[in-house]
Amino acid sequence: MNDLAGKHLVLGLTGGIAAYKSAELARRLQDHGATVQVVMTEGATHFITAVTMQALTGRPVFCDQWDGRQPNNMAHIDLSREADAIVIVPASTDFIAKLANGLCDDLLTTLCVARACPLLVAPAMNLQMWAHPATQRNAKRIADDGVVVLGPASGDQACGEIGSGRMLEPHEILDDVVAFFQPKLLAGRRVLVTAGPTREPIDPVRAITNHSSGKMGYAVARAAHEAGAVVTLVSGPTGLATPRGVVRIDVDTAREMHAAVMREASSNDCFVAVAAVADWHVLNASDHKLKKVAPDDSGEGEVRGLELRFAENPDILAAVAALPKPPFCVGFAAETEDLHANAEAKLARKRVQMIVGNHATDAFGRDDNALTLYDGHGRTTLERADKLVLARRLVAAIAERMAARSRLPATAAEGTR
Ligand code: CTP
Repeated sequence: MNDLAGKHLVLGLTGGIAAYKSAELARRLQDHGATVQVVMTEGATHFITAVTMQALTGRPVFCDQWDGRQPNNMAHIDLSREADAIVIVPASTDFIAKLANGLCDDLLTTLCVARACPLLVAPAMNLQMWAHPATQRNAKRIADDGVVVLGPASGDQACGEIGSGRMLEPHEILDDVVAFFQPKLLAGRRVLVTAGPTREPIDPVRAITNHSSGKMGYAVARAAHEAGAVVTLVSGPTGLATPRGVVRIDVDTAREMHAAVMREASSNDCFVAVAAVADWHVLNASDHKLKKVAPDDSGEGEVRGLELRFAENPDILAAVAALPKPPFCVGFAAETEDLHANAEAKLARKRVQMIVGNHATDAFGRDDNALTLYDGHGRTTLERADKLVLARRLVAAIAERMAARSRLPATAAEGTR
């Protein structure tokens, strides 16, 4: 993924054991297309060498305010002038205290104060140091000053204690940096997403399910969060990690998904139904394991036929769209044939604002897809791409239509697409 293509980042390291994770982060930021200029405090050099960071980034590392390598001897200004952001990983207690007070006693603090770009910091420290009232005060003050504070997380610490203050993992910081650069098209909005398959039990060990991997729904949840929305994800069984910052509610059956969605729906501005919901559940599901061979009177055993009876599941999307004040509703249609006709029919039948059509062969399991959007005013094609890239384009299309709709008077907006 080239999420950070064209971005130039100053990666600042301060003195803390988590500095070893900065090496991994530098690598990942570049894998995603960023160029990385490392600046280290003197303290950081006790934990990881400048040689390591130079080898990983292919650029000389700056540590000293009086470094003469910049032609005008103005490293404290020049290094951040081309930067899209400064990212401090790890940020020590001392460094956060200096930032809170605008101190400039080394190259990195001076760079931060002299910057004209955003500043993101990932605190890393012992739990007592993080909990200290001065640190809490300083962290709040830098946040109030517009600094983006990433984490910290809670968990095992290098000192052997367990608690809050642990630095986020490099992949989490990467996700947060990527999210930071996405346009905040859904700021102030709440978005509810369903994803994955549902699983309808036959007995305690068997079930009817489908091939949905959940990748598209998870990508939509992530993209909506990146766009600034508060996101709740109601997920059927998948092996996927919850996107950062997203609240996830796990369900198994369509009826559980229906109940969870109906609890959440009216407090959301937008509902995106990506889940591949089973249309039926088994009426005569057994509460004990069905045996392949049922013993007959002689005890010999006889192969038994199995008859299942089905009852229809609630249509979750249609139920949300029928609420008195429904959120902006978006459905998916995965079809094997007649995509356009089926998608247009679903748009009308479910009375939703948008249907996202795709071919069933693309929809299940793959990492990429191609989508067509139907909104009652024509079709928009989103060309084949990675599912996260597509999800971001879809979120932009939804945000645009939601904004247009909210500009209409309330009575006109009802029932419109
Ligand atoms: N959907 C839903 N609840 C259901 C069935 C479907 O919320 N019980 C949602 C899906 O999440 C999707 C959209 O409705 O957003 C279309 O799903 P699909 O299975 O294609 O539609 P159906 O109405 O079940 O039509 P069919 O299976 O006949 O194609």
